[in-house]
Amino acid sequence: MTQQKILIFKSSDISKESFCNHIKNAIFHCVSKENEYALDHLHKKLIDNKKLMHDSDQATLFHKAVYSTFDLPNFYSSEFWLYYKKLSLEIVDKLKNQTDYYGEWSIQRYPTFRFHFPNNISVFEFHRDSDYEHPLGEINCFYAITECKNSSALHVEKNLGFEDYVPLNLKSGEYAIFNTSIYKHGDLINKTNKTRVSMDFRFIPDIYLKNTKVSKTNSIKLNSDEYFIREGEMKNLGN
Ligand SMILES: [Fe+2]
Repeated sequence: MTQQKILIFKSSDISKESFCNHIKNAIFHCVSKENEYALDHLHKKLIDNKKLMHDSDQATLFHKAVYSTFDLPNFYSSEFWLYYKKLSLEIVDKLKNQTDYYGEWSIQRYPTFRFHFPNNISVFEFHRDSDYEHPLGEINCFYAITECKNSSALHVEKNLGFEDYVPLNLKSGEYAIFNTSIYKHGDLINKTNKTRVSMDFRFIPDIYLKNTKVSKTNSIKLNSDEYFIREGEMKNLGN
């Protein structure tokens, strides 16, 4: 019997606010000049503007707006980076204690964002991240920007190979640490009336990134110079 182990924690309110504000500012700057929408009501923009409809799970205008901020010259002095770095390094400490591996870890350099709209899905199929060349020992952090509840939550395999999915219900600001490389996971149709916004980012001891491959999802190299960043380098980047 090989059961998934999911650890759930609550982040600080100031971290949650900085993540929410960064996403809101990026979207409202690039997509909309209005700011009356809460993040869990983003789907109303889909009704307002058909151009916001997506053609792949990472290609809505919302994704483009947020990802474009990572290229800004002042990104590493932003509050988002400050709190993303702080949270990531706190998680590395937890993982060292959980795994008894106290060497250097690598962390996903920029998080991946998910927008799970009502009557829609945010990832196209149930999968294991290792299907896309991610290393087996990779540990994922799933961070709930907005509440994730039942059909709007990520569904995660409980017993390896059983495909017995359970919803990863989280309140806004909570995050879960678990393995999505070998355990299958995916989305159901969101039957709530709220958009789920979440981000996920991955961790692995740096030594296991030797000879890693190219991600099948976005052609980026799964090493410490591209997809990941070493914890020592992350500590020294930005404020
Ligand atoms: Fe995945």
